[in-house]
Amino acid sequence: MARRVAVSTGGGDCPGLNAVIRAVTVTLIRDYGIDVFGIETGFDGLLGRGGARVRPLTEESVRGILPEGGTILGTSNRGSPFAMPREGGGTVDRSAEIIDRLHELEIETVVSIGGDGSMKIAAQLLDLGVNLIGVPKTIDNDLLVTDVTFGFDSALQVATEAIDRLHSTADSHHRVMIVEVMGRDAGWIALHAGIAGGADVILIPEMPYDIRAVVSSLVKRARSGKKSSIVVVAEGAVEAGKGAMYLDDRASTHTIARRLGGVGTKVAEDIAEACGADTRATVLGHVQRGGSPSPFDRVLGTRFGCAAAHLVAKGAHGRMVALRGADIIDCAIADAIREPKLVSPNGELVTAARSLGVSFGD
Ligand code: F6P
Repeated sequence: MARRVAVSTGGGDCPGLNAVIRAVTVTLIRDYGIDVFGIETGFDGLLGRGGARVRPLTEESVRGILPEGGTILGTSNRGSPFAMPREGGGTVDRSAEIIDRLHELEIETVVSIGGDGSMKIAAQLLDLGVNLIGVPKTIDNDLLVTDVTFGFDSALQVATEAIDRLHSTADSHHRVMIVEVMGRDAGWIALHAGIAGGADVILIPEMPYDIRAVVSSLVKRARSGKKSSIVVVAEGAVEAGKGAMYLDDRASTHTIARRLGGVGTKVAEDIAEACGADTRATVLGHVQRGGSPSPFDRVLGTRFGCAAAHLVAKGAHGRMVALRGADIIDCAIADAIREPKLVSPNGELVTAARSLGVSFGD
């Protein structure tokens, strides 16, 4: 009987997921004659009342998906099999059911495409004897070991184009335009898009800001004859001495992560109040995660997918593929989730931005 491998996409969707699914599927089938199955909606697909929601993936079924955004398998970022919401409140550990389903389906390895949440689940399942190979995905670019995750470049393109567009209105109306971008607790999107879009102020979670420093840099620009300014704010940016801002007051639980947001509007209001500037806030939100992957993300997703398939075929255990310089390498999944990969406040990128006059509000 042919070897059987499953593919799962977990966590928030992101451009390039389908490129990975396609590369894993085609490589396993063409190079190794291994049967491939797609698990629907992340690990939730193995926990349905009516049995596992798993379907065969074939060269035919993945044809044409390379430029498609999202994931043909569906995904979920609401919880973990180790802490599923229980009717009536609380959570329940359903990991044993995942293991049973995989045994019933005779799946030898799961290729788990996801961010830090999915890799943490993968590490826990590995401890219980499930074999997984990880593929790092997230627009936030906050996973260790890999230089970059796929999805980040596509999100940057959207954020940079938005900043380019905001420049026109800022110039025409002599305004301070604030744009809030995603990234969770990491400032990679804000920093890169801010530099690429020629922002004047960039606020990131790793560098708590002082609104007085932000206002003073904007007033200085105005006094030197600059009629407009662009402020890029990461959704996780924090004012010195305060905490991050959330869209809801739900206490963080094992199953529902609180949603960051609101800091862009706050910064816009605070700037207007402090110096009388005409400010407008734009929140980019999920447009950064949607749409067709950039060529870079298509290529990276394809390289990751092929490398993951080769690891599966040679019987590797608990490895995650990663980009290191120009090469695709692999590492222990555990090494990628030790801590989030964050922007270094003294790093070369921040220093370069400062050389160009960018204020970080510090
Ligand atoms: O991790 C990706 C991400 O887009 C973060 O940048 C953002 O904070 C979060 O997901 C939003 O999640 P949701 O889709 O649940 O609103």
